[in-house]
Amino acid sequence: MAASRPRVILSAAVSIDGKIATRRGDSALSSKKDKIRLHKVRSKVDAILVGRNTVRVDDPLLTVRYARGKNPTRVVLDSRARISTKSQIIKTAKNVPTIIAVSAKAPKKNLQRLEEHSTKIIIAGRSNIDLKRLLTLLKKENIKTVLVEGGGTLNWEFIRQGLVDELIVTITPHLVGGRDAVTLVEGVGFAKIADSLKLNLRKITKQGDEVVLHYI
Ligand SMILES: NC(=O)c1ccc[n+]([C@@H]2O[C@H](COP(=O)([O-])OP(=O)(O)OC[C@H]3O[C@@H](n4cnc5c(N)ncnc54)[C@H](OP(=O)(O)O)[C@@H]3O)[C@@H](O)[C@H]2O)c1
Repeated sequence: MAASRPRVILSAAVSIDGKIATRRGDSALSSKKDKIRLHKVRSKVDAILVGRNTVRVDDPLLTVRYARGKNPTRVVLDSRARISTKSQIIKTAKNVPTIIAVSAKAPKKNLQRLEEHSTKIIIAGRSNIDLKRLLTLLKKENIKTVLVEGGGTLNWEFIRQGLVDELIVTITPHLVGGRDAVTLVEGVGFAKIADSLKLNLRKITKQGDEVVLHYI
């Protein structure tokens, strides 16, 4: 891994059939035990990254609540700065460090609206967010480890660009189905298995009816 960027851990809870939410966007897959495990991981990283759709659909807080420890900086990838100021992340930005990563195409009025709510804006890319550029800029903010918490579109971009150093997946005992339900990795996907990302399994933890898989 290049030292010019933070270490990237990709994390998700999936159904047995690989979905991270139902076709209606319900992503309440994991158990309390898994939330405690995830929040311990959160407390050890410097930042949590999510895509704009995850904020729109789940309205998460992305703080450490089920474990002790500090809140990491929250980073939302939102190329046009359209995140709702009514979202929990923006409403709590005064108390929890929050970065909105945008592109140069984000309208000024959207940026002003966010700055009024104590968020830091990082411009990383012309019309889309350039992940490598963003990671370099985050490193300059002293962010050394990031936890990518989805969704599937963002996960694909990190995987496609070879930016994942670790993967932690909790397989929850649910079968969800649905061709429109978001899977762990969306995007166009690799055409050949030979081109796909192949990882090394480091650890398996049984957690009630769940299994936590840790790959590097
Ligand atoms: N089970 C779990 O662990 C888990 C975790 C997280 C999310 N989820 C679920 O995942 C679903 C959302 O996933 P999703 O795939 O629809 O969306 P997503 O990955 O959360 O967000 C994708 C959006 O992020 C923005 N973005 C900005 N720069 C990007 C870049 N470089 N690469 C990729 N995206 C970028 C884009 O919006 P703009 O064009 O507006 O910038 C893009 O449409 C929700 O249903 C949520 O519940 C589940």
